[in-house]
Amino acid sequence: MSSTIESLQSEERFFSAPSQFTNSAYIQDASFYSKASTDRLKFWADRASELKWSKKWNTVLTWERPFASWFEGGELNASVNCLDVHMETHRKHKAAIIWEGENGEVRTYTYTQLHREVCKFAYQLKHTFKVSKGDRVTLYMPMIPELAIAVLACARIGAVHSVVFGGFSAKSLKDRLLDSESKVLITADGGFRRGSSILLKDIVDEALAQRDTLVQSVIVVKHTQNDIGWIQGRDADYATIMANSKQQTEAEAMQSEDILFILYTSGTTGKPKGIIHTTGGYMTHAKYSAKAVFDLKDEDVYFCTADIGWITGHTYLVYGPLSNGATCLMYEGAPDYPNKDRFWELVEKHQVSILYTAPTAIRAFMKWGDAYPKAHDLSSLRLLGTVGEPINPEAWMWYYEHIGGKRCPIVDTWWQTETGGIMISNLVGIQDMKPGSAGLPLPGISAQVLDDTGDVVTEGGGLLSITEPWPSMLRGVWGDPQRFEDVYWSEFSTYFAGDGATVDKDGYFKILGRVDDVLNVAGHRIGTMEVESALVAYSDVAEAAVVGVVDEIKGQAIVAYVILKEGIEKTDSLKTRLFSHVSVEIGAIARPKLIVFTADLPKTRSGKIMRRILKAIANGEPVGDTTTLANPGIVEVLVGT
Ligand code: WTA
Repeated sequence: MSSTIESLQSEERFFSAPSQFTNSAYIQDASFYSKASTDRLKFWADRASELKWSKKWNTVLTWERPFASWFEGGELNASVNCLDVHMETHRKHKAAIIWEGENGEVRTYTYTQLHREVCKFAYQLKHTFKVSKGDRVTLYMPMIPELAIAVLACARIGAVHSVVFGGFSAKSLKDRLLDSESKVLITADGGFRRGSSILLKDIVDEALAQRDTLVQSVIVVKHTQNDIGWIQGRDADYATIMANSKQQTEAEAMQSEDILFILYTSGTTGKPKGIIHTTGGYMTHAKYSAKAVFDLKDEDVYFCTADIGWITGHTYLVYGPLSNGATCLMYEGAPDYPNKDRFWELVEKHQVSILYTAPTAIRAFMKWGDAYPKAHDLSSLRLLGTVGEPINPEAWMWYYEHIGGKRCPIVDTWWQTETGGIMISNLVGIQDMKPGSAGLPLPGISAQVLDDTGDVVTEGGGLLSITEPWPSMLRGVWGDPQRFEDVYWSEFSTYFAGDGATVDKDGYFKILGRVDDVLNVAGHRIGTMEVESALVAYSDVAEAAVVGVVDEIKGQAIVAYVILKEGIEKTDSLKTRLFSHVSVEIGAIARPKLIVFTADLPKTRSGKIMRRILKAIANGEPVGDTTTLANPGIVEVLVGT
């Protein structure tokens, strides 16, 4: 049986959560959906009421497409909702974060301890580094507890955090520092990855070398203890400032619509977008969705494997679980270090009950074989989750059988940096699961599949759109309001997600992936234009076109077609230089899998590169109609490469 037929058949399968799960699930009552749709605003007001507000809102929603304002007049603080609210409860001495370093070091922070650290660091940011409400602070750190502490400390004083994933290059970091106009940068000497250390402070020094950013202070956590450069007056040691710090117990009262953070993500142009999220709406959805989808209970140990440098880490490692008083496991390193059973060792050691990871990781585990999870007692697990990419039914089944022991339900959660929180996911207490399908929109969320003309597809495929405003929706693109309207609101009258999807007779959504020029490599969004701009910035390159090819593990991989300038020789050593050039310009995550030198690219008569044709060629698929090409002969040449 071919794998295509297998996957089509698997999609017909239904799985139910075991009764001991459904009988105790937070949401057991299917009327939750109808209640939410009957009075959406009341539904969201009820969810917002689960947060602590220092001043209650006057208006639930003001909507002037595409601008939403949620809970206007209300005031709250995100760090208070993650920490202070637990101080007077039984959770006071409960573990908030259990952190394990790649080298096996373990540190646990109770809610009281985490609160203290956050208050101390907030004090330093405010009083020593003069960070005021609304100022931007960039965080470029490994996955260590100080990253979560710094995020919450920014929130406490009303500073806007911009976390830049530690795998980005000096140039990417600098672009984001310039765009956000951050004056304080928090980093570490390095981070551990597969036994060696990533020299983050060196990258920071390189990003700041030309002194053209607004950064005045760099706070450095000493983690790997490698030798680092030090600039007196600019650099400050985290441990030293914390040793003598007072506590900023008073938290800034933030307006509901005050910005909580910016997070950069790739789009279809060469320049990443700083996605803006505001306080009240984001926190409402983060708290609600974490509890509803993961069924978070006090006894759970919840392990989200995402880095805080991505939105998943923001919403489902920091704000969502902590506002629910959960115990979170945070892991610094790689899943295959020192051995390929590292995650299963962590699950067994810390008695993890909820695991949230990416299909890329699941496919890698599948390839490594069952022996690794089999060697560990995984009986503590009760719920599994996936995010970031479409999960193929085969990987879903493997996860279900070999990790979940056929007893753990799986939530396949679709959402985006822009949506702030999970939008589509089955709720396992009340719905059956279909491998490969994300399920229904969450109560309170309205999604539809639309055809090219914007008409609703009731059963079949099309483009995914969110049809009603939701509290954690992006409020804009930092410094570029027009881009917000153009990218998300010009295609249809409702929010256009950039993903293709199908909806079936049961209303289940299956996400097919991006329909724009954005790739999803191992769950990371990479704009084809970003990689192309990096390539053409290299002196020998005249033109470049980048497409995605199907990759067994990573979902997609990058293939770059490159035209060299006149007289430049097509050598392997030039390819090697181009590979590393992309890593230097963007980061290793954007490094192409393959570079093809070519004399020409398929173009329309108006000179537009036909990426559809390149993509078909790269994937070994039929090329289709080439009559619109100015240079159809190139297709045959490229097919032969
Ligand atoms: C993809 C990550 C299929 C999708 C939270 C989306 C998914 C992009 C799923 C956002 C899923 C995310 N099934 N595809 N369950 N979840 N995606 O901003 O293409 O890093 O548009 O947010 O990931 O990526 P981002």
